[in-house]
Amino acid sequence: MTATLDPRSPIGVFDSGVGGLTVVRALMERLPFENIVYFGDTARVPYGVKSPETIAHYTTQIAEFLLERQVKLLIIACNTMASVAAQAVHDLSDTPVLDVIEAGAHAALTATHNHKIGVIGTPTTINSNAYTRAIHSGKEPIRLYAQACALFVPLVEEGWLDHPVTRLAAQEYLKPLLTEGIDSLVLGCTHYPLLKPLLQEVAGPSVALVDSADAMAEQTARLLADRSLANPDRNSPHYDFYVTDVPLRFQTIGERFLGRTLPHVHLIKW
Ligand code: DGL
Repeated sequence: MTATLDPRSPIGVFDSGVGGLTVVRALMERLPFENIVYFGDTARVPYGVKSPETIAHYTTQIAEFLLERQVKLLIIACNTMASVAAQAVHDLSDTPVLDVIEAGAHAALTATHNHKIGVIGTPTTINSNAYTRAIHSGKEPIRLYAQACALFVPLVEEGWLDHPVTRLAAQEYLKPLLTEGIDSLVLGCTHYPLLKPLLQEVAGPSVALVDSADAMAEQTARLLADRSLANPDRNSPHYDFYVTDVPLRFQTIGERFLGRTLPHVHLIKW
């Protein structure tokens, strides 16, 4: 079935919880006239420690929800979902799909000079080897060093962005990658852009941090321009946020990720 896409339709962005708001934030800055519908599966987060089958099932359910809202583009903001379920989303319809892994891998290949790239993410993302496949699909011979950082998601949600415990965890996690002499590090998880200042200090100035949220915003701008799908209206855009639960501290955490107040939050009961 060929979808008829309206440039005035919203972009659908989805994630396992609030983390994907880092991608929404980058999109709002890069594409200030685009309407956005966000879906965060706050009732079932975290995905990063779940099996690929479960993640694929949840991901399909969310993508279908957004397609029913006539989005012109689907953005998989969650690295964990993208790592195991991107194909399942592509198979659902002709609506274009972008995902953070593709965007992050592309940005890393541009950033590296010595061809030694590090990638950090949730255990599921790292075990899936999705970044390895995406980075090795380029022409360059690349050495990729991957590290699962299971503690970072809870530390970020706790707000410990510049805390001795987080610093210690970062030193442990990054040690093997830094020993290999990487010159760029892909932040392969929605939560990690919030740790940028700390990670930059631990990694040192010779390592470029690759933020897949920024890379995704760039890729989105290119896709909308190439397919004549950019919103021609110059009104203030509409933002809607759908979540499956409103947990304690949801507003505080969400606003930390989004960098502004979180309006129009709708609760979905499945
Ligand atoms: N959104 C997830 C990711 O980018 C992190 C949170 C989770 O484990 O669900 O990998």
